[in-house]
Formats: sequence, C-alpha cells, structure tokens
Amino acid sequence: MSVPVLTIDGPSGAGKGTVSRLIAKKLGWNYLDSGSIYRSLAIALLENNTDASDVDEILNIARIMELSFECNDELSVKLNGVDITSKLGMESTGNVASIIAAIPEVRQILFQKQKDFKNPPGLVADGRDMGTVVFPEAEIKVFLTASAAERASRRYKQLMEKGIDVNIQQITREIEERDCRDKARKTAPLAQADDAVFIDSSSMTIENVIDQVLSLVPQQYRAI
Ligand code: DC
Repeated sequence: MSVPVLTIDGPSGAGKGTVSRLIAKKLGWNYLDSGSIYRSLAIALLENNTDASDVDEILNIARIMELSFECNDELSVKLNGVDITSKLGMESTGNVASIIAAIPEVRQILFQKQKDFKNPPGLVADGRDMGTVVFPEAEIKVFLTASAAERASRRYKQLMEKGIDVNIQQITREIEERDCRDKARKTAPLAQADDAVFIDSSSMTIENVIDQVLSLVPQQYRAI
C-alpha cells in the first residue's frame, strides 16, 4: 500500500512547524519535524563539547545517537533516553544545527532516520529538503515562506512570550544568516521543488495557511 506524503519546506520561522503539526493532527497522519533531528544532533554535540569542525566525531555521534519522538499537542524528543525537548527551540541549538546540516555525510546518516517516519496512514514532513531529496515521490508538496522581517518578528514574539529576553535586530541577523547558509550549501540546499505549491504566509493567519494547504490534499484523504 502506498503511503501518501505531504511535504512542507521553507526557511526558518515561516510557520511550517505549527502548520504541519496541526494538519497532521487533522488528517490523523504521522508527523516528521526533520529540523528536530538536526537539532537533536546539535544538542548531542554541545553536550559532548564536540567542536562543530570535528567532522569525524560529529559523524560518530550521529551514527550512535538514539532518538525517540512523541507528538501530542507539542513534539517531545528523547536523546539516548533523556528528554531534550526544552533545549530544542533554543537559538544556539538552531544555529549549530544549521552549521552541521551543511556536512553531506551528516545528511546521509540522518536520511534513513527521516525515511522511517513514512508509515500508514500518511505523513506530513516539514523541513528544507523534504520535497526535493528525502521524499521526492510525495504527492503533495508545499513551499511555505514569509518575509525575513515577518519571520523575525514572529520569532521575537514567541521568545518574549516564553520570557526569553532577546533583541529583534539580533534575531533578524541570525535568521538571515541561517537562510543564507541553508540556501547556499552544496548538498540538499533549501529550495522549492519544481512541483511544490508556493505559499507566502507574510500576511496570512495560521488558519488561512492551514485551509490553503488542506485544499491541496485529495478529498479521499480528508474524508475521516
Ligand atoms: O527547521 P529548523 O529551524 O528546526 O531547522 C534547524 C536547522 O536544521 C536548519 O537551519 C537547517 C537544518 N535542517 C536541514 O538542513 N534540513 C532539514 N530538512 C531540516 C532542518
């Protein structure tokens, strides 16, 4: 039986996570937050004091790390049995994740961990290369973006709500640096698949985006 896949790729802060999680819930499908796999490896390296330039050690850790995911309303992740959920969203984790994600062998090792999420009745996969590299066969593909200023402002609000004091200029700079690195890398760069539908969420609500993405899902899968 073929398993339907919906991929949602795009730059950081475009709303992919929230939209993907809610759509997976509505459809009753599995959910892959591929960024959380790169982020988990980043946490493993930070905890091990591994330098981001020590490629051999990074690859060793990537090979042996054990991850388990649970998605209720929020995603929670265990790394080698220890809950790392509270560290996943940190800016430092995201920045290290983006740096190590540029190493082709890292992507190769993490490839199968992502493919393993494709199970019945379906999968919503969010990331940078879901529609281009990991699930090129996906039936429905979306490229979700928003202006850098809007993404920085959303991220700023999110962090302030969590009581984390941040500076909007710094957030904007980090988002732009991360976009630049994710687009410029040679292996599996952030790019829109030829057959993906482009959505700019700059002036849309989450509900609008969800409605638009759901309208792309064939009726047979929405009948539940
Ligand atoms: O989506 P995110 O912010 O959690 O991703 C963190 C970093 O991980 C991102 O800057 C680049 C990398 N990443 C990737 O290279 N490919 C993916 N499919 C997902 C994330």
